[in-house]
Amino acid sequence: MIGRLNHVAIAVKALEPAAAVYRGALGASVSAPQPLPEHGVTVVFVELPNSKIELLEPLGEASPIADFVARNPKGAVHHICYEVDDILAARDRLRDNGARVLGGGDPKIGAHGKPVLFLHPNDFSGVLIELEQA
Ligand code: CO
Repeated sequence: MIGRLNHVAIAVKALEPAAAVYRGALGASVSAPQPLPEHGVTVVFVELPNSKIELLEPLGEASPIADFVARNPKGAVHHICYEVDDILAARDRLRDNGARVLGGGDPKIGAHGKPVLFLHPNDFSGVLIELEQA
């Protein structure tokens, strides 16, 4: 069921200095910032030959990553995103296997315009998992 690694997300206090490191020292191509008010984050994507890095900055008062960034002021890995062919079938299979799907289980549209769901980190070795419809 599980497909390609779509991205690894790193949450930071401020996008621009983090993006500058990837653009400069690492020589990567970095997208323009994209505000996602419905997710409470602004994102940029760092393009890698085989995947992407998503840099996240809190957006708005009620950002779901505000506490995480407060606990990790230097930034930290926030989640990893796997692709699945059928997100609703994947959700049902995960639930049948005892995994907790966050936010009620209805997919939202993510940063790539595709449906996404998040899975509870306690069910996945302490790592928040995002699933994205391939
Ligand atoms: Co993500």
